[in-house]
Amino acid sequence: MTNAPPRLRVLFDEATIQRRVHELADAIAKAEPKDLLVVAVLKGSFMFAADLIRALHRAGLSPQVEFIHLSSYRAATVSSGRVEILRDVESDVRGRDVLLIDDILESGRTLVFAKDLLMARGARRVLTAVLLEKPGKRAVTIDADFVGFVCPDVFVVGYGMDVGHSYRQLPFVGVVTTDDEPDLFEAAS
Ligand code: IMP
Ligand code: MG
Repeated sequence: MTNAPPRLRVLFDEATIQRRVHELADAIAKAEPKDLLVVAVLKGSFMFAADLIRALHRAGLSPQVEFIHLSSYRAATVSSGRVEILRDVESDVRGRDVLLIDDILESGRTLVFAKDLLMARGARRVLTAVLLEKPGKRAVTIDADFVGFVCPDVFVVGYGMDVGHSYRQLPFVGVVTTDDEPDLFEAAS
């Protein structure tokens, strides 16, 4: 057991994330979405969504913005995970192009659930954008249309993502660690 305070190792720094967000916005604009409705999946995507939406504006798009709060519960095994709606979108999605934004694509259940839901409600097209993708973890078949970064198979925090409700405020993505690597960022507590 160590009593060392938790520290963070930076995985994707602020400038790198901002550059990538603008590249993603340009790629999304090239897909020429019509009557675009952005749906950000709460809570983890809120910071990525806020930056991406502003970058979409700079890329010439005028999306409307909605939120859906989803929660994935995992029982003993990964394959028993299921997704629940904690708060639904309010807008009618019929006939619209939707851009779903989430923080991490891991098993794929969250994104498949949300995409199927919006398609079943009559969306014309559902595009998906995730900040991070963890490869080799997929339990269902889905690829995001726009991926910020491929992420190693470690638990990450920051830039909207949490562990135990902490670290969402960080402007970068990091890994919580208790070891003494030289490039560690001292976690503000
Ligand atoms: P999945 O693709 O349905 O397995 O769910 C991915 C969701 O799990 C993400 O939207 C996150 O909320 C959460 N998640 C997965 N990996 C991490 C992580 O490393 N840090 C924080 N949240 C994570
Ligand atoms: Mg999430």
